[in-house]
Amino acid sequence: MTATSFRGFRVHGTGGGDDARLETLSLDDLAEGEVVIRGEYSSINYKDALAATGAGRILRRFPLVAGVDIAGTVESSTDPSIPVGARVAAHGCGLSETHDGGFAEYARVKADWVNLLPAEIDTRSAMGIGTAGFTAALAIHRLEQNGQTPELGPIAVTGATGGVGSFAIDMLAARGYSVTALTGKAGSAGEYLKNLGASDVLDMKSLELGEKPLEKVRWGGAVDNLGGVPLAWLTRTTRGGGGIASIGLAAGHELNTTVMPFILRGVSLLGINSVEIPTALRREIWARLAGDLAPRHLDRIAPREVTLNDLPAQFQPYIDGQVVGRTIVRLS
Ligand SMILES: NC(=O)c1ccc[n+]([C@@H]2O[C@H](COP(=O)([O-])OP(=O)(O)OC[C@H]3O[C@@H](n4cnc5c(N)ncnc54)[C@H](OP(=O)(O)O)[C@@H]3O)[C@@H](O)[C@H]2O)c1
Repeated sequence: MTATSFRGFRVHGTGGGDDARLETLSLDDLAEGEVVIRGEYSSINYKDALAATGAGRILRRFPLVAGVDIAGTVESSTDPSIPVGARVAAHGCGLSETHDGGFAEYARVKADWVNLLPAEIDTRSAMGIGTAGFTAALAIHRLEQNGQTPELGPIAVTGATGGVGSFAIDMLAARGYSVTALTGKAGSAGEYLKNLGASDVLDMKSLELGEKPLEKVRWGGAVDNLGGVPLAWLTRTTRGGGGIASIGLAAGHELNTTVMPFILRGVSLLGINSVEIPTALRREIWARLAGDLAPRHLDRIAPREVTLNDLPAQFQPYIDGQVVGRTIVRLS
């Protein structure tokens, strides 16, 4: 039976601090949807840190339960394709933007947003993977649709110790790619990155970025979590035919480059959006996460578990780029 009251982490404005807090809620406080999920686990993503600290404008209405990820059991459903008792995950879509999200003991979501979990993935593992692992898998899916192969050369992964970066290294290495991890934590996290499958670990701060429209080719392709200067450099150093999956903006949202890499080398810049994605593709990616893209080092990438009570103290280190790997949030 659904609890009449439960706890959730709600954001009331963009000021951070007390604008984001744990509260007692009821289902009536949540946005409409066909499916009520009894939450078991969520996870922390960079975007959650932007929303909770006010460092980025993520929420488009207030108040709203934060959290872009949730996994749990279906408590009630008016959609026959999503049965009561099913183990499910939901992420992205409107969660924590326009719709109450996953940092609560219950979530009410649209049936279309719900992914029935494959038998191989329990709810805790699903949130170890979460938006970060899903996005890494989507990026690899898009790169390979675009013709990426290990023979084209090494793949550069920026923001390597982050959630997306860690999963990208794990999955790419498993598929036979040589992976170079680019990180601001080469000293402290080099071993972690090698254990995930990186062949090389480079310190972002020591890179010679150059200024020419085309620099010497270094990469067969790239998974970029940073945007800004690092992404511009990747466009100048990726070989013809290779792809760059543009995922994040941890270093900045601007991109100052020229058309030369695209028209003279045939480099492809591939936009990755895990939030607004056709339902069939989202479910295909989850099937791949249980199959050929299953992470090999999930426990290494997501070693931490916190509770809702711990949440308020978790976000600032993400904004400061200090976190290695992923944090799972236990909801119940
Ligand atoms: N497009 C999409 O659908 C989608 C989906 C998920 C995430 N994202 C975005 O992708 C990015 C990565 O997400 P995530 O969940 O993996 O984040 P995360 O776990 O917080 O990792 C981000 C990593 O980026 C590096 N970093 C952080 N701040 C930085 C700064 N100021 N300058 C340079 N490097 C910095 C750090 O790695 P190192 O210390 O190893 O360099 C950090 O560990 C974020 O921008 C996020 O918003 C987009």
